[in-house]
Amino acid sequence: MRDDRVLRLPVWWFIAILLARSAGATVATHGMVASDHALASAAGVEILQRGGNAVDAAAATALAVCVVNSSSCGIGGGGFMLAYFPRTQRAIALDYRERAPAAASRDMFVRDGKAVPELSRAGGLAIAVPGEIAGLAHAVRRYGRLQLAVVMEPAIRLARDGFPIGEHLADEIARGREAIAAYPALAAVLLHADGTARAVGERLQFPALAQTLTQIADQGPQAFYSGAIAADLVETVREAGGVFTRDDLASYRPLERPVLRGRYRGRTVLTMPPPSSGGGVLLQILNIIARDDLAALGAQSPTTLHLLAEAMKHAFADRAEVYGDPDFVRVPLPQLLSPRYAETLRNRISARTTFDRSFYGQADPPRDAGTSHLSVIDGEGNAVALTTTINTGFGSLVMSPRTGVILNNEMDDFAAQPGVPNVFGLVGAAANAVAPRKRPLSSMTPTIVLDHGRPVLIVGGSGGPLIITATLQTLLNVVDFDLDAAAAIAAPRIHDQWVPDVLAVEPGIDGATRDALARRGHLIKEMPRMGAVQAIRVDGGGLDGAADPRKGGAAVGW
Ligand code: GLY
Repeated sequence: MRDDRVLRLPVWWFIAILLARSAGATVATHGMVASDHALASAAGVEILQRGGNAVDAAAATALAVCVVNSSSCGIGGGGFMLAYFPRTQRAIALDYRERAPAAASRDMFVRDGKAVPELSRAGGLAIAVPGEIAGLAHAVRRYGRLQLAVVMEPAIRLARDGFPIGEHLADEIARGREAIAAYPALAAVLLHADGTARAVGERLQFPALAQTLTQIADQGPQAFYSGAIAADLVETVREAGGVFTRDDLASYRPLERPVLRGRYRGRTVLTMPPPSSGGGVLLQILNIIARDDLAALGAQSPTTLHLLAEAMKHAFADRAEVYGDPDFVRVPLPQLLSPRYAETLRNRISARTTFDRSFYGQADPPRDAGTSHLSVIDGEGNAVALTTTINTGFGSLVMSPRTGVILNNEMDDFAAQPGVPNVFGLVGAAANAVAPRKRPLSSMTPTIVLDHGRPVLIVGGSGGPLIITATLQTLLNVVDFDLDAAAAIAAPRIHDQWVPDVLAVEPGIDGATRDALARRGHLIKEMPRMGAVQAIRVDGGGLDGAADPRKGGAAVGW
């Protein structure tokens, strides 16, 4: 009977997904949603068709994707929403990033003078105070057109009635099986009774989560931050060895931050400010390469890739030193993003060679696991780029069996000690040290590119620091190389985050190019699937969207 529900979806829906998956197709004129999962994109389109705007649709898609890809994100996590409304030319950057509990302290992950990575990656201490529900509710109330309860309907349906496990989720369960087995509440949902992983196509339901979502839909976001759900979350975290309290939840607030703006090849680039490093690093790289004619140098040519890698290293070296929560540290964005600084850094790039690490301001880039990006546009051209996360796959692995909430491990995005890499190999300094009620530095890069005040590209991705470079290269593939959305996303990528001293390349970068880069001194390492991007390109009024084949999502239009 539950399968019927999926089968009863209208035929146009399947056609839209098939069209949206075909390379380069301009598939819609009324609106479009690109996300990491076809069912989540369909949830967003459903909300558009019910009269919602891009903000409503983005919130619905986020809630739905966090059910069907519960390894990536969830109401136990947090995120960033960038929205642009062309009629008023207003842009907003909403920060609903998780926050350290009041009892957090700088050395909470240090034992006998050394950072202990396990403490910030799994279990109670890894958990920061979730912002997802507060943020989405704020966005819908302030900028949406529908009631939160309506926007939540598709996610509630998916959690209650179940859905077939997709390839990405199945991979994450299989990969994390041993770790999941140590957390009984999560194991009860994701593993069979004999401890084997649930697999592709098996039906998965989250009845407790469906109930929690229904309570929030009925009573509003305060149901999550005070009352029975909050009491349960505090108890769950404490049982798992964590330190957050009811007051940490009750005092959580999403924040609207000043949108970060840049210019690139005559377009305006709107992106996320700190506590994400994503927007700043993206704009810094764009500024460094702005005077180089990439189209003439050639897409994927050794010279273009070398230039990009060098620009990435400079920007990531600065990321490590000066970025942190702007409520706690001053991030010198005006200096970092000034044309003069970009020129200084560009002049330090040699066409012939890369340099020793110490030449730049400072792990192994990880594969995409946690985090999910979605891009949305509605019929009026309102655009939303939204990235949400519980950090690594299934976050802290702590799940409340009573509420079905999987809690994040976002505390690992802090620098546990200066220079000690986190799970993504990223190093940080005092600017990103743990402090009570501070938000950990992020790489999430929701971005909207405008031409003459109209959105022409809505883009972002998942994959830790790969988010920044994957978003960057997709943007360049559209703006400099004029590729359609599918081709821009599918093109092979590179990534260099300064530390470790490695230039990661996807398998599609050919041998001759790798040799040419190696001759310039880059230590080449092949990595499959570097990040997962969702993008919508607006082209002469038509909407051309695509989801990253590396993670198996879909763009759906109507
Ligand atoms: N948790 C990954 C990020 O925010 O960058």
